Amino acid sequence: MTDPTPHLIRTSRDGDVLILTIDNPPVNAFSPGVPEGLKAGLDAAATDDTVKAVVIIGGGRTFIAGADIRTFNLPREQAPDLRGTIAKLDAFPKPTVAALHGTALGGGFELALGCTYRVATPGAKVGLPEVKLGLLPGAGGTQRLPRVVGVKKALDLILSGTPVGAAPARDLGLIDEIVEGDLLTGAVAFARRVADVRPLPRISERPAQPDPEAIEAARQSIRKTHRGQLSPQFIVDLVDLATRTPFNEGHAEEGVKFVQAKDSPQSRGMRHMFFAEREAAKIPGLDKTTPTTDIRRVGVIGAGTMGGGIAMNFLNAGIPVTIVETAQENLDRGLNTIRKTYEASAAKGRLKLEDVQKRLDLLTPTLSMNDLGDADLIIEAVFEDMAVKKDIFTRLDAVAKPGAILATNTSTLDVGEIAAVTSRPEQVIGLHFFSPANIMKLLEIVRADRTSDSVLATSLKLSRTIGKVGVVVGVCNGFVGNRMLYAYREQASKAVLEGATPQAVDAAMNALGLPMGPYAMSDMAGLDIGYMARRAAAERAGQPMPDDWVDRVVQLGRKGQKTGAGVYDYPDGSRTPVPSPAVDDLIQAYRAEKGVQPREATQDDLIARLTATLANEGARILEEGIALRASDIDTIYTYGYGFPAYRGGPMHYASEQGLTTVVQTLERHGLEVAPLLRRLAQEGKTFAQYDAERAKSQT
Ligand code: 3HC
Repeated sequence: MTDPTPHLIRTSRDGDVLILTIDNPPVNAFSPGVPEGLKAGLDAAATDDTVKAVVIIGGGRTFIAGADIRTFNLPREQAPDLRGTIAKLDAFPKPTVAALHGTALGGGFELALGCTYRVATPGAKVGLPEVKLGLLPGAGGTQRLPRVVGVKKALDLILSGTPVGAAPARDLGLIDEIVEGDLLTGAVAFARRVADVRPLPRISERPAQPDPEAIEAARQSIRKTHRGQLSPQFIVDLVDLATRTPFNEGHAEEGVKFVQAKDSPQSRGMRHMFFAEREAAKIPGLDKTTPTTDIRRVGVIGAGTMGGGIAMNFLNAGIPVTIVETAQENLDRGLNTIRKTYEASAAKGRLKLEDVQKRLDLLTPTLSMNDLGDADLIIEAVFEDMAVKKDIFTRLDAVAKPGAILATNTSTLDVGEIAAVTSRPEQVIGLHFFSPANIMKLLEIVRADRTSDSVLATSLKLSRTIGKVGVVVGVCNGFVGNRMLYAYREQASKAVLEGATPQAVDAAMNALGLPMGPYAMSDMAGLDIGYMARRAAAERAGQPMPDDWVDRVVQLGRKGQKTGAGVYDYPDGSRTPVPSPAVDDLIQAYRAEKGVQPREATQDDLIARLTATLANEGARILEEGIALRASDIDTIYTYGYGFPAYRGGPMHYASEQGLTTVVQTLERHGLEVAPLLRRLAQEGKTFAQYDAERAKSQT
């Protein structure tokens, strides 16, 4: 038989078994050409009497990792026909065997479910992660999965999007056999064994048992876990439908809902974030040849909340840490907090009890910086004071071994100025963790003017080792995330001065999808922290501190949750914010003092104003080269500041609103528009187009 398939599918024979190998690196996504190749292979096999069965396998590192996400913006007629390919498999007159290795995800796993049988390597993983892209399994997944594993388990798998390993998948009936040796050999042997089985056991022909309790439980649960999101609701409806209608009807409805989800701004936002996160790891000038250092031992200076949290990241990754404090009492307190955090995780079943001790055994407490001589990386996490940091780095320079990376966790100070006190400024970098540092996924990697490429590449690699999303930024006050936060808070303050209540501002941000608005967040973090940062910044600039009603709240001794009162009241030690009559009076008096006549602000206007402010500051950050791309800013704000992924980050969200609208909002509120934002608006462009054009000009 001649090879009828295009280059993305390789056809070969092993006796009476036809093998179709998908060859579309890096992850064998279902791109244009794949369906054509598979269909042609199947058509040829259907009419060839010498073919008894077909094996479909992935070349390279994985089976199909899903539909090609990049094709979702194509017109429907140009999109690869995944559903049609699976329909052909489902109707195929001979046994088809999907041979799975790597990650069979989304449309890839759906294609496997459309085959008659599935075999897998022990390390293979299968899953339907579409919900993480604001989608639903759109190629039969919502209809076939409940027919195999039941409604409850199907909902667990599809709503979490978390893949399962080969062994649990076999126990669930999703995989027929685990192949211990060579996958292709095992798959062909399996195909030969089942070649004559008739009728063919098609999943689409099985019934799905109704489970109204599981459906109701899922509906309630997604209200909390996926607040405001569209696709989880579709998923529950469709899984329910699978139990009430014949396969073809449920399948048709799934197709309609998939298109609706795919074309929604929510999915566009989440798809943008998928690529943004991966793009952040690519730094012009760095590539695979850039040398990196192995980080085998880490030193952390400061065992406070931040230092302790930072240390835990490395302990969790099996990297030994030496932690330094100035007084035994502080060291003991820090160690105790780390131990308690691990014990709490173990109590919740998130960590094995024996792992608590294993991790603690990797931790060496000390009162002497001289013990840091063997560390490959030392991270300073003491309070924000330039003089203190300079003193520490001068001493570190004397004790650290040659080649060690010296990092500061500063969130505001000039990393270059800190580096300049050492004899090795090229080895100095900022590693800005976010609190709680053992949980938050974001790591701002602050490149100072003399930081070497190797130190930068090592830091990026390390961020992956410890499960963080590292984003490279330049030096400025607050770097990217906090600088935008300052602008956002200032604007929130003005909105309150002009007539909004703090709770209306917070409610607006909740409606946008942020877990907390600015005031609930400041109260939780400590209202005095922002106050002190603003005071220090004003002192540094030699200017008086700008007047702000929030600072007057702090001056009343209301420092947030920790003092039982901040912008909100927290009666009886509760953590639930309650509007405060005292703060209300303070705000009214402040407005009167400033001669401001309060005006009502609608929720939509508050959202527009605050998000426009973020995008405006983001545009300045881009123009100054502090961030490399708008999508990096989106990654920072989503992973570090709770901006919902389904809005795609503040820059993407601004583009979705239309940059002209954003400019108008800024002008309406008397804000100076960043020149880049104005230019893009005038040219009718988006921030994604700006990123694409810049990337092109750099290659
Ligand atoms: N479509 C297009 N490109 C994809 C892709 C996909 N489904 N999956 C991965 N890629 C690209 C990445 O963008 C990256 O490109 P780059 O090198 O240019 O940055 C490259 O493949 C490698 O990806 P990773 O860096 O993520 O590699 P890892 O080895 O860390 O992870 C993975 C591999 C687990 C497959 C991970 O990429 C992943 O989770 N991919 C997404 C899987 C997914 O969501 N599938 C469902 C798609 S939606 C669908 O199928 C709809 C259907 O129901 C109709």
